[in-house]
Amino acid sequence: MTLEEFREEVRKLKRSNRYPADRSYILPALWIAEKSFPAITHDIMKVIAEELGVRPVEVEEVAEFYAMFHTKPKGKYIIRVCTNLSCMLNKGEELLARFSDLLGISPGETTDDGLFTLEVSECMGLCDGAPAVTVNEERFLKVTPEQVPEILKKFGWKG
Ligand code: FES
Repeated sequence: MTLEEFREEVRKLKRSNRYPADRSYILPALWIAEKSFPAITHDIMKVIAEELGVRPVEVEEVAEFYAMFHTKPKGKYIIRVCTNLSCMLNKGEELLARFSDLLGISPGETTDDGLFTLEVSECMGLCDGAPAVTVNEERFLKVTPEQVPEILKKFGWKG
């Protein structure tokens, strides 16, 4: 998507009149950006601010606050490993370490080939399947460290 196409998407969103206040459109506009670009850059935030009539800093604050938005380039696949209480008690941190070792990156980093970004997640509401992992929209429950290579291979990891 080009920046101008994105601008048109934000205009369409605003015309939907779904929300009472202009700033309520910031989150859905950021979602469009998240899905459409490798990173939510300052230029993208500027477009959102211009189209919604809010200050750029307001858009930036929202983009920086929520972990689901990436202001730095992200991988094609975002691996989120939950380490909150239920998952922690079920070796979620061991699982995170396994992903980290195999991919050669720390949480918050992206592999050099741009395939994977590894993230630590807060509770994803999947506690009955702890420890839980998501890769983009796909969920993996009761994951063991031994299953990690198999999960990665499914998304193109060559080992
Ligand atoms: S604590 Fe991990 S999904 Fe809830």
